[in-house]
Amino acid sequence: MIDAIAIDGPAGAGKSTIAKMAAKELDMIYVDTGAMYRAIAVWTHDENIPPDAEECIRDRLDSVNVTITYKDSQQRVMLNDADVTDRLRDEETGRRASVVSKHRCVREKLVSLQQELAKSSRVIMDGRDIGTRVLPEARLKIFLTASAKVRAKRRFDELKEKGVECDLDTILEDIKKRDFADETRKESPLKPAEDAVIVDSSEMTQEEVAETIIRLYSGKL
Ligand code: DC
Repeated sequence: MIDAIAIDGPAGAGKSTIAKMAAKELDMIYVDTGAMYRAIAVWTHDENIPPDAEECIRDRLDSVNVTITYKDSQQRVMLNDADVTDRLRDEETGRRASVVSKHRCVREKLVSLQQELAKSSRVIMDGRDIGTRVLPEARLKIFLTASAKVRAKRRFDELKEKGVECDLDTILEDIKKRDFADETRKESPLKPAEDAVIVDSSEMTQEEVAETIIRLYSGKL
């Protein structure tokens, strides 16, 4: 067993917000593995490599260095010594990341990096394959989900608040497409580990979800 928490689940279930809250409370290091796939997506963009060009990516992947550092307790993602953290969240990078994350060579590289991180610190790691592949020995595994409708509405509200014009139906369609791609890919598809606790956050506040995870980890539930 390793002293770590694995949180997996579909896009928009609130994994990162909740993992950050729990990490603070439990004094653990939060690792956002989606950001690492997004960094590889940024690299393919900058190098003009189509994200589905698996062979080309495999041939050149040794020249890519993704590292995680922490500044004021915030995760920063370095791509060959450039801090790309502020370029990771846009929609285009998200779409690219969902394609590059299908490739076995990309997954192998990032999974071993993630396993190294978990050896050197107590981590709360979120992603899609943390409980099933990256940290199967984690002390607690959570599969955090919410209905596609609720996730779409949360994303819609988030974008509205930022002043971004958007349409709820388009967001819902996009979420469904992303779920389908993540759940049906050959390499490490999104699914709960056999011993994961499934938490449906559709009707819960973020505080309730974080509280549940903290209690499960502390063995109080
Ligand atoms: O969680 P996110 O949206 O930042 O993830 C970006 C993409 O990376 C998403 O399509 C799923 C993929 N991903 C993955 O395959 N495995 C992980 N451990 C984390 C993310």
